[in-house]
Amino acid sequence: MTDFMNEARSLFNYTQTMRRDFHMHPELGFHEVRTGGIVAKELEALGIEVTKGVGKTGVVGLLEGAKPGPTLLIRFDMDALPIIEDTGAEYASQTQGVMHACGHDGHTAMGLTVAKILHKHREELAGTVKFCFQPSEEGFNGEEVGGAEMMMRDGVLSGPNVDKTLSMHLWNEKPLGWVNVARGPVMAGAEQFSIKLTGKGGHGAAPHVSVDPIVAAAQIVTALQSIASRNVAPLHAAVVSVTTLHSGTAFNIIPHTAEMTGTIRTFDLSVRKTVLERFEQIVRGVAESMGCTVEIKVERVTPAVINNDAVATKVQDTARRLFPETEIDTANYLTMGAEDMAFMQEKVDGCYFFIGSNNKERHLDYGHHHPKFDFDEEALIRGTALMSAAVMDMLK
Ligand code: NI
Repeated sequence: MTDFMNEARSLFNYTQTMRRDFHMHPELGFHEVRTGGIVAKELEALGIEVTKGVGKTGVVGLLEGAKPGPTLLIRFDMDALPIIEDTGAEYASQTQGVMHACGHDGHTAMGLTVAKILHKHREELAGTVKFCFQPSEEGFNGEEVGGAEMMMRDGVLSGPNVDKTLSMHLWNEKPLGWVNVARGPVMAGAEQFSIKLTGKGGHGAAPHVSVDPIVAAAQIVTALQSIASRNVAPLHAAVVSVTTLHSGTAFNIIPHTAEMTGTIRTFDLSVRKTVLERFEQIVRGVAESMGCTVEIKVERVTPAVINNDAVATKVQDTARRLFPETEIDTANYLTMGAEDMAFMQEKVDGCYFFIGSNNKERHLDYGHHHPKFDFDEEALIRGTALMSAAVMDMLK
């Protein structure tokens, strides 16, 4: 059996150089022109057939194995975040206000290294590997949809039709060495909501002739807390967070309106249904009982990422063989974070796994999206090896 850890380790210089270059030159969603250009050039240098501009700045590479077989899409996200980097690293961002604070620089670098490894083993592959370098995972960034959906609109799941997907995330909540491959739901579905309350403005000293939308807003924030604690079963998961609340202009004026926005996260479809129903009932009921009129808008951001049992089981087997010293974590309620790979996994069976990447001793343990976020680059070796080995196992 091929020693993929060894192969990934022997290419570590390449992976690290690419990762640090991407880190120094981060690009926001749908602006990954430089990053996508380098990806295309590196894939083309291997003789992999490349299509650019799939989902605006996305890049797709096709590697055909020597024997016929299914098509496996492997996805790596490329976008950075609007954060001012504060790591002090020698490879820190050179673009003010933009930072790779989620590890997508590492994902892109691993994707290119996986391409090198699989290209070397193409004689052993029965099937096609579709490398999917995705833009704008972190949000819509002014477009109608995010990167995964944008690539799907441009047909990334067809020509050739994709049979299975694999994807992964470096995970800084867990130490280097830890690996999670779970069946079922692994990332939450996300909705965003906005609430506009309209009361009746007036003098701060005469509340009795006003309808105070601030009091109504406060009651709504409090009442919404009962959804997760009283409507969702204790062993299920849900989050309802009010994250903005704006109202008022001066200390002696009762304002006319109050506006709130926030997010709802769930894994399970039946839990989602309950939460959305209760959300609407509570907001409307409390607003009306306080004498306010209310407009409620709830929009789906992403569905939950649900791993297919058979695909995940296969990747678990691969991981156990590849990392005999590691006990593979198979817990599936890991994070309420959302991930737009969910859209592809809604259409095609797939597995999304996690590679532990923190190192407390080296202070590389800040959370994702933190201005000091950085990870132990050894994790890139493990991620590269597991992705390569999983593809080989699935296209044998
Ligand atoms: Ni991320």
